[in-house]
Amino acid sequence: MSLLSVEHLESQFVTEDGIVKAVDDVSFEIANNETLGLVGESGCGKTVLALSILRLLSENTKTRGIIRYRGRDLLQLSEDDLMAIRGREIAQIFQNPLSSLNPVLTVGFQISEPFMLHQGLKRKAARIKAVEMLERVRIPLPEERAREYPHEFSGGMRQRAMIAMGLACKPSLIIADEPTRGLDVTIQAQVVELMKELIKESCASMLIITHDLSLAAELCDKIAVMYSGEILEYAGIQDFFRKPAHPYSKCFLESLPARGMKPIRGISPSLIDPPPGCRFCPRCDHAREECKHVHPDLMKVKEGQYARCHIYA
Ligand SMILES: Nc1ncnc2c1ncn2[C@@H]1O[C@H](COP(=O)(O)OP(=O)(O)OP(=O)(O)O)[C@@H](O)[C@H]1O
Ligand code: SF4
Ligand SMILES: [Mg+2]
Repeated sequence: MSLLSVEHLESQFVTEDGIVKAVDDVSFEIANNETLGLVGESGCGKTVLALSILRLLSENTKTRGIIRYRGRDLLQLSEDDLMAIRGREIAQIFQNPLSSLNPVLTVGFQISEPFMLHQGLKRKAARIKAVEMLERVRIPLPEERAREYPHEFSGGMRQRAMIAMGLACKPSLIIADEPTRGLDVTIQAQVVELMKELIKESCASMLIITHDLSLAAELCDKIAVMYSGEILEYAGIQDFFRKPAHPYSKCFLESLPARGMKPIRGISPSLIDPPPGCRFCPRCDHAREECKHVHPDLMKVKEGQYARCHIYA
């Protein structure tokens, strides 16, 4: 059984201009010990998808579908039951640590909180654990650093403190949204190395959202490519880099600096009123008549690789 199984997930925002279908019929699974990378252009729905899993979206959002975690549907749980899972079993590492760390509490206190909350440790014991965590994410002088506030940390240190906080209670699943965004390249590499180590050590599963395909190649077992609210390709990491199946995946790879930086012509469609056929159709060099009218299903390309494209019908 997979640890997390998302089935036909939809998340929509009701706005003045209409209904924004940010996540549209998305299904995927994450097995124990597996890391799935979620990639795609800005605005395609990655963050909304991640937030949907733990029901962290605002009131004006409608979320439908099934999000099965260890067999229980998170969308059906009471707020109390969900609280018990958030932070303890499923940890979130967000892209902007400054907005997730509380500016008026010391870093040490914030990392010790989950130990008090979820493991029932007393303040002092939790504090010792927090310092241990800071040490594990290689913050120098962890005892002293624990007494400091987030603004006294550098960007890279804050990111590592976030990771320490996320991993404090040994979660089974980590959801990381752009964990290296905004960091300079050397620090990025350090954070990736650290995450790799910690995942291996803790045997946790992970959903990692990133623009950075070299990071995905480094950390992930599988990859899901998202476009305009949908998953267009799902593949093992090696298959994906060796032979991406979906025309968009190919363009996306070719648009990377390492592979020629060829821009993808056109723009992605509106999430309010997406085209009826294939959503990539207006930008696709392989488009044919049916692509304009018939919405393609996710089709099997080979064992473990799927693409939402009529070529594979
Ligand atoms: N609260 C909201 N109300 C209305 N629309 C929203 C809201 N939050 C997000 N959206 C829209 O949903 C779509 C998906 O946004 P999302 O933040 O998930 O993109 P993303 O793939 O994470 O992009 P990025 O790579 O830039 O982080 C966007 O078009 C965005 O404008
Ligand atoms: S379905 Fe048609 S338009 Fe869409 S990606 Fe495949 S070939 Fe291109
Ligand atoms: Mg995002």
